[in-house]
Amino acid sequence: MDYLQIKGGNKLQGDVVISGAKNAALPIIAATILSDKPITLTNLPNVVDIRTLLKLLGMLGGSVDHQKTVATIDNSTMSSTKAVYEIVSQMRASILVLGPLLARFGECEVSLPGGCAIGQRPIDLHLKALEAMGATIDIRGGYVRAEAPNGLQGAKIIFDKITVGGTENIVMAASLAKGVTTIINAAKEPEVVQLCEMIRDAGVKIEGIGSNELIIHGTNQKPLTFQETQIIPDRIEAGTYLCAGAITQSKITLQQVNAEDIRASMNKLEEMGFSFDITPNSITIHPCQEIKHVDLITTEYPGFPTDMQAQFMAVLVMAVGESLIEERLFENRFMHVSELNRLGADIWLKGNIAAIRPIEKLYGADVMATDLRASSALVLAGLVAQGTTNVHRIYHLDRGYDNLEGKLSKLGADIVRLKE
Ligand code: UD1
Repeated sequence: MDYLQIKGGNKLQGDVVISGAKNAALPIIAATILSDKPITLTNLPNVVDIRTLLKLLGMLGGSVDHQKTVATIDNSTMSSTKAVYEIVSQMRASILVLGPLLARFGECEVSLPGGCAIGQRPIDLHLKALEAMGATIDIRGGYVRAEAPNGLQGAKIIFDKITVGGTENIVMAASLAKGVTTIINAAKEPEVVQLCEMIRDAGVKIEGIGSNELIIHGTNQKPLTFQETQIIPDRIEAGTYLCAGAITQSKITLQQVNAEDIRASMNKLEEMGFSFDITPNSITIHPCQEIKHVDLITTEYPGFPTDMQAQFMAVLVMAVGESLIEERLFENRFMHVSELNRLGADIWLKGNIAAIRPIEKLYGADVMATDLRASSALVLAGLVAQGTTNVHRIYHLDRGYDNLEGKLSKLGADIVRLKE
């Protein structure tokens, strides 16, 4: 197994190119099931989760030609509608094939994704919405078996909670349904917006893109013809590099990034004392005198993203006063706290609130990555910890960060990938 070894203390400088967004690419790859014609996707991040979902399409009988950041997918030959446990258990987002498989083929079986380290993460809202669209759902032997032999029917869906994956699954299902589907309390993350735009550009009328209410006029099972699609920049990767600049008090420039999508993170960094130069596709972060403490609450877009919570906690460890973080989306998303404390942080936890108290210094240690974003928080802390930090179990990082150690080394960090 690989681990990352970081020798802390280096300042960073220069430019880093942000990759395509994993969380935009995953639903877009799933959406290709709605088509029986080839489609090319560009600016894919070179990460394990993307390879896993492309492998699943191959197992379903699709043909996939994938080279690093570009994939051409042809699902005209798709012959199976069963997404097996071996793949779905590796990556929860595989549940995104449920809506498109059911919409195109009238039936499918998808393994239940199961629990996840950061919380329970049920899929009840996805299933309830598909039932409202006329599907019969049966859960047996660890699989969701869904059927709609005469196709899905447009319906009015009201999500009890805002769900990114649920909104994406239902947008995809609705695009081939009979009639109109209205989604109320829809997610409006930039990744949901890109999926809607791609489906709209394939000729499906979608009203309300980017709002909490989406109206989708289905094609009555007529497969879609997609245009070549370039994946949007990864706002979470971008936010992570801003945090790398912040924690090391360095001036660095992010290239191929959209500042609008990471406004909430930049606003918090400004409150903490950092400043920015922004162009249409770059952001430069400037160091500050001292890092001010701030409070933050994770919430849905355009609020502060839960996927940036761990990285901000690492930066706030170096702030001058006490900060509070409230995690509202995932009940167990604080596993990085004990690992940051191993490095010398003073973080106190009660329920879904963490208090981060000021300290003089972090000291390198062996730490364990527990989930994708927690892993990057440990790397950030390692960049400023005195001595050597070894971050173990980085397979979590490899799921979602494209060449993290390569990009950080190029910025001047002392970081290497080693074998246990
Ligand atoms: C997506 C992102 C993930 C991010 C999360 C929240 C992808 C591949 N992943 O995950 O990185 O952290 O959005 O921004 O895009 N819920 C239910 N029932 C459901 C579905 C969700 O109760 O059927 C709950 C979840 O447990 C959670 C909340 O709703 O508390 C939001 O989850 P959701 O938006 O669905 O997250 P994901 O789509 O899984």
